[in-house]
Amino acid sequence: MQIDLKRMNFGAPAAERDIALGLTDYFVESDAFKRLADRSRTIVLGNRGTGKSAIFKILADRARKSGAHVLELNPDHYSYEMLSSVLRAESEGSWAKHGAFTSSWKYLILILVMQELTRSGPRLKTGSAAKVYSFLRDHVEGEQENPIAVLISYLKRIEGFKIGPAEASLKTSELAKLYRLQELEPLIPCIKELLDKRSLVVLVDELDKGWDNSEDAKAFVSGLFQAAIWLNELSTRLTVYISLRQELYDSIPALYDDTQKYRDLIETIRWDEPSLLAVAGMRIKHSFPELKASGNDEAWGSIFAETLRYRKAKSFNYLVDRTLYRPRELIQFCSDAVADARSQNLVPIDYGVVSRVELDYSAARQKDISSEYRFQYPGLESIFEVFRGKVYLFERSDLEMLCLQICTGELRTDKFATWVLEQDPDFLIDVLWQVGFLRARAIGGLKALRRSGSSYVGPHQVSTLNLRTVSHFQVHPMFRAALGMREPKRDASQSHDDDGNDDESDA
Ligand SMILES: Nc1ncnc2c1ncn2[C@@H]1O[C@H](COP(=O)(O)OP(=O)(O)O)[C@@H](O)[C@H]1O
Ligand SMILES: [Mg+2]
Repeated sequence: MQIDLKRMNFGAPAAERDIALGLTDYFVESDAFKRLADRSRTIVLGNRGTGKSAIFKILADRARKSGAHVLELNPDHYSYEMLSSVLRAESEGSWAKHGAFTSSWKYLILILVMQELTRSGPRLKTGSAAKVYSFLRDHVEGEQENPIAVLISYLKRIEGFKIGPAEASLKTSELAKLYRLQELEPLIPCIKELLDKRSLVVLVDELDKGWDNSEDAKAFVSGLFQAAIWLNELSTRLTVYISLRQELYDSIPALYDDTQKYRDLIETIRWDEPSLLAVAGMRIKHSFPELKASGNDEAWGSIFAETLRYRKAKSFNYLVDRTLYRPRELIQFCSDAVADARSQNLVPIDYGVVSRVELDYSAARQKDISSEYRFQYPGLESIFEVFRGKVYLFERSDLEMLCLQICTGELRTDKFATWVLEQDPDFLIDVLWQVGFLRARAIGGLKALRRSGSSYVGPHQVSTLNLRTVSHFQVHPMFRAALGMREPKRDASQSHDDDGNDDESDA
């Protein structure tokens, strides 16, 4: 078949735009997705670009098609800056923000649910619908208003009694009412009845947008988690889904201290190579419907050369090795290659094109990863820079020495990277592994987890690894081009390449 690359469209790298391009057609359904769809899990954790929004977009699409109400909440609706500017600090009078946020979230979501359930206006309302409708008319003004205003005004009521001048016994009784959502109590049976007629799905995505790491932001998110659990228990016809970036979850003590409570509700997104091949393959088939009957590897092979010239590596392995197993990365890399090859229709795409686009891709990824961890590890990019121009392979002792020079300040890093000073090198190695910058040579029992030929693994491939016992490391291939890193001199007895053509004899 003659492939015209003008027809090849790998889609948009963010689900919000991808949904208009064909995501419903080329969505890869994982077991994780199924557990969410059947409501056995309701919290989605994953790194940037792993597909949190994609799952939500598909859940929304399917819920709508099945006739359910759908409410999508995202950052146009909340702003962390606003929270900090209107709320008093916890230190001004301990008012247990977490609990206040929990009640306020319950209140807000129930108001939104009631609005949605009675959306058709005042006509012909009887029974439950009429009761809900008149409550909203009397208590909530301006439906158009930013929903966060409803949350904030409830918070302000709690705050007023917590740190306001009221007399103690009055404080207690008023607070109890607010925490219990007393105003809404008589309406709960009405809400349930309306839900029985038509179920409702609430999706809260992108909580990390505009994240400022403040006390309020953390209480906002942990309160939402609590509220969602409560709401999901209210009626099986109401489902609240939340997504959160993994490392934000890890940075909110109220959440990870309570991990037991959330564990069986959490779905963590993980990808492997066959499912990433499906992401690419299904997009290729979407662009070329005549390939519909082909397997994903066959579809891949119609766009990319099977084996890359000069590298002797399989093209899919080469590209996927330059990702942290996030669909957004693979889509970006593939789109960049297609954009480069398009004008001359250089198909199948070979190493010339791939290597041409790799530098920009790699540089963009390096920037993105640094920015992704800017709260936990500020100035990360300046630590990556220390590796510039070096051979990408490290024996433990050499890596420790380099890290020690960073930790002591002998090798200068960004002024924001103070967290690294006075740490021991093992700590830094651990961080660099966790963020995906380093891969560790797997030994023994881990063999089964890796593709034959590649003996170095990252946290996207194995969730736990005792780094202390690892003797060899390498900089992840995704970062190498941007840092101009060099290949080790080949030595017949010892080869540690990662491109799928390695002779480490586990094939
Ligand atoms: N299961 C999937 N099937 C197909 N494409 C996916 C899937 N998950 C994610 N993608 C694609 O990967 C890219 C990143 O996903 P997105 O949901 O925007 O990431 P996140 O919200 O986690 O940052 C988007 O182009 C999205 O359509
Ligand atoms: Mg998203």
